[in-house]
Amino acid sequence: MTDNRSVAALPGDVNPLRHGRRISRSPDPCTMVIFGGSGDLARRKLIPALYSLSRRRLIPGGFTVLALARSALTDDGYREVLRQWADGSAEGGRADPETWQPFADGLHYLSANYNDPGVYPQIREALARFDRMRGAGGNRIFYLATAPSDYAGIIRNLGNSGLARECVDGAGWVRIIVEKPIGRDLDSARRHNEEVNAVFSEDQVYRIDHYLGKETVQNLMVFRFANGIFEPLWNRQYVDNVQITAAEDIGVGTRGGYYEEAGALRDMIQNHMLQLLTLMALEPPPDFAPNSVRDEKAKVLRSIRPFSPAEARANSVRAQYGPGFVGGRPIPGYLDEKGVSPSSRTETFAAVRFVVDNWRWAGVPFYLRTGKNLSKRVTEIAITFRCTPHLIFAEAGAERADANVLALRIQPDEGITLKFNAKLPGQAMSVRPVNMDFRYGTTFGPHLASAYERLLLDCMLGDPTLFDRADSVEAAWRIVMPILEGWAAGQGPLPTYASGSWGPAEADELLLKDRKRWRLI
Ligand code: BG6
Repeated sequence: MTDNRSVAALPGDVNPLRHGRRISRSPDPCTMVIFGGSGDLARRKLIPALYSLSRRRLIPGGFTVLALARSALTDDGYREVLRQWADGSAEGGRADPETWQPFADGLHYLSANYNDPGVYPQIREALARFDRMRGAGGNRIFYLATAPSDYAGIIRNLGNSGLARECVDGAGWVRIIVEKPIGRDLDSARRHNEEVNAVFSEDQVYRIDHYLGKETVQNLMVFRFANGIFEPLWNRQYVDNVQITAAEDIGVGTRGGYYEEAGALRDMIQNHMLQLLTLMALEPPPDFAPNSVRDEKAKVLRSIRPFSPAEARANSVRAQYGPGFVGGRPIPGYLDEKGVSPSSRTETFAAVRFVVDNWRWAGVPFYLRTGKNLSKRVTEIAITFRCTPHLIFAEAGAERADANVLALRIQPDEGITLKFNAKLPGQAMSVRPVNMDFRYGTTFGPHLASAYERLLLDCMLGDPTLFDRADSVEAAWRIVMPILEGWAAGQGPLPTYASGSWGPAEADELLLKDRKRWRLI
């Protein structure tokens, strides 16, 4: 066996310390208290992710869940409901008795009204029991998976009941995971941050944005900072424009009530898409330590040019889906969805042209677009490079050559494609664009861990690198507020787009003003 550490590095050699080494990570036992334990998030994401971690033996045997929700259920009743969820979930994999039983033994349920202070002594008593019986060691994670309107009350009650305090001798840690949306504007986000920081210190707070847990999003950092050939091109000298697309082929489904209050800008751009932009645009951090990365991300957010409301209107487009067909299925318009007001002006599509005012990116437009019920589900970052300054093959019939495009496909069909020009075989010097393609599935196998698996494990390990800090959440709100205000001031009719299309014509016009087009995906 070769000990990598003994290999002397030569200039231009592989990095001997990291090459091919797998780093295993094993957290301490702990109890996760899930407020909203029977909600959509717990059902679709949290429990399948925890089960998957447990069956892959990435969390210790003593790991325990205490789920709180309003419905009346026993521990066994809850376990049975969860087993059915796990069976129906693509992420956790079917519950098989050998791995399900030990996981289920650690699942407990408390029927509770979160606003009732009387519930918190019961939580304390249950936690003490798990410490004794399952060796949870005083380590706790509180997970806020409820409606955001419940956050303030839960946080206050955790504070008043002393449950937020870590053991003085350091024998037990306490962390809180907060789900988006964090506020619905800058003021409410600030208020939320004050409320949480009045009870928990900032290093106890893990603000989750599940995009940061996606393998392909983390790979963006590796792609940029573990390869020598791309970084020199990663700037205004070579990049013409950046397009970030997060298209969904589903509508609001059963979430009409939530979505009415949110809209595409708050739901996707303020968080997930600005995360993608910051990771694409940040400066190389000195290392992968939590604050090194988060400091650089915060700097990008501070460099995004703030719009006046009028500029915001000129640089953004919003629209709402009308009826149409997605994948051959007839789809109702947004106004006919359950929980949606018939006169709603909530946008289900948003496109924004951002400018990052710093030395690296000055003058390079960053176009972001997202929408529900679009033609297909795809999330990608596409970097279009500047064209060659002069084409020497023009006389032989090749009049133009397409710009090189590097497309980082976040999902589905995760991978990276580089478009470049090649000679078309034959007598003439004809030029045709071709693709060089890397696919995760082909290289690493089909299973990628879900974002929640990664993030829940990171929280148990006390690694906040992939979580959001209060200052960045507020900086992101500062960026979107003028857009929200600009839209609120504009009274014109709201553009619509047919379900199954790529959005409204206005989104194409936004780019045509810069003599550019959205990439055909
Ligand atoms: C959520 C939004 O945060 O992200 C949803 O609230 C959206 O509206 C979802 O559908 C998209 O996540 P993913 O992982 O499917 O791209």
